[in-house]
Amino acid sequence: MADIPFDINQQHYTEYFAFKGKSAWRSRIWKEAFGEQYPEGLDHYGYLTKHELKKITSWIKGKEGSTLVDIGCGKGGPGLWLAEQNGLRLVGIDPIPGAIDQARRFQLEFSLEFPAQFTEGHFCDIPVEDKSLDIALSIDSLWPVYDKIAALMEVNRVLRKGGQFILSNWDLIGNDPVPAFEYAGFRLVDKEVSLKWRIFQEAVYEGIGRYKDELVQDMGAAANIMLHEASTSRDHLSDSMRLLYYLEKK
Ligand SMILES: C[S@@+](CC[C@H](N)C(=O)[O-])C[C@H]1O[C@@H](n2cnc3c(N)ncnc32)[C@H](O)[C@@H]1O
Repeated sequence: MADIPFDINQQHYTEYFAFKGKSAWRSRIWKEAFGEQYPEGLDHYGYLTKHELKKITSWIKGKEGSTLVDIGCGKGGPGLWLAEQNGLRLVGIDPIPGAIDQARRFQLEFSLEFPAQFTEGHFCDIPVEDKSLDIALSIDSLWPVYDKIAALMEVNRVLRKGGQFILSNWDLIGNDPVPAFEYAGFRLVDKEVSLKWRIFQEAVYEGIGRYKDELVQDMGAAANIMLHEASTSRDHLSDSMRLLYYLEKK
């Protein structure tokens, strides 16, 4: 794998994915924050909701046997769920070896039609052939990437013509990413502001503050990323928007 040019959270993610268990406190924080919108059983680290999973499913075109690449898959939950529900072949990539290890084991908890493959890679170096995939997915994983144009062009390279790229993103208010998507060879098909995203994210940060000691006791250094996020990202909730995008390769 080529070197990751810059990743502002590499150490935190390495610590996070080195924790092999499932923390009851972490799940409790997310469940209390999201209520009925919490997607059970995915053990994801992000802000995906049940509503978003339904929306993504409604966007996915060629279902049975199409290949989906989940970029920045982490432990793999969202891609595994979508592959199970839609009969997709799944390739998951992440730059953190601990995430890939966990995703390989986690796939055993899903009923997949095709075995999933999880491989080290990152947004600017997706280890697959040109024009070989039908769908690319990125859930809460584009934000740490320094060179977003290079990342979008790399996604474009691996998709077939007409291939779909579905992603969640935080946009700074007044900073429309659509011209960058178009520059990289995509057209916008649909987009949606994430339902109640600020309320959910604020509630997660409050929960992290409330159960800080329990999280650290439960997860050790793996809790650092959550404590860091809760203390640094709160201020940015008012100057950004979380959206789900559906793009197509031109
Ligand atoms: C917020 S987590 C989301 C993980 C997963 N998509 C989920 O929803 O559970 C962000 C993920 O992006 C990965 N990541 C960080 N830098 C990346 C990069 N340059 N390219 C691809 N993935 C990256 C991290 O290792 C982490 O797994």
